Amino acid sequence: MMDSVTILDKTFVKFIPGEEIDAAIQKVADQINEEYKNDDPVLLVTLNGAIVFAVDLLKRLTIQCRISCVKLSSYSGTQSTNHVKNLIGLTEDLRGKRVIILEDIIDTGRTYKHLVEMLEPTGLKDLRIATMTYKPEAYMLDLPIHYCAFSIPNKFVVGRGLDYDGYGRNLPDIYQLKID
Ligand code: IMP
Ligand code: MG
Repeated sequence: MMDSVTILDKTFVKFIPGEEIDAAIQKVADQINEEYKNDDPVLLVTLNGAIVFAVDLLKRLTIQCRISCVKLSSYSGTQSTNHVKNLIGLTEDLRGKRVIILEDIIDTGRTYKHLVEMLEPTGLKDLRIATMTYKPEAYMLDLPIHYCAFSIPNKFVVGRGLDYDGYGRNLPDIYQLKID
């Protein structure tokens, strides 16, 4: 039996089970715990999508760290738009800090680029990114992706914080848009 969910007008089929996601996030946490053990990084959570990944990752971090949140928006429905909007800006002083951006997904990389440009003038010490999912076929930047739980095909996905018009973030598994 195919495991599927319907959200608004679209059907999605199960793509990555929750247990696999947990295991992959644990591996990312292990890496960060090792590489930041002598630091006190700031984890920059991009609202809303990254909140679920951020919680899952944070529970597994044993290092000293803080979090800060920003809210950007570049998607409308299942289509990326060219425009990244700053809905909630940076409130934290990042001078001299090691910063890790937390993302639910890196698609074209537009949001990532916007974040890098926004963070450059803060005088932070170093910047990396950790993402739950990454679509290499859609990615347009040369910037490295330091920590990634899953590389996925260039298809629309929901669940674990990822949404379709605001819905589906609460699904414990990741689902892929069904094309019939
Ligand atoms: P980018 O700026 O093109 O890299 O897109 C990043 C943002 O687009 C993410 O933070 C998501 O909010 C959204 N996004 C991209 N692909 C998907 C997807 O497959 N499902 C849900 N949201 C997506
Ligand atoms: Mg989104």
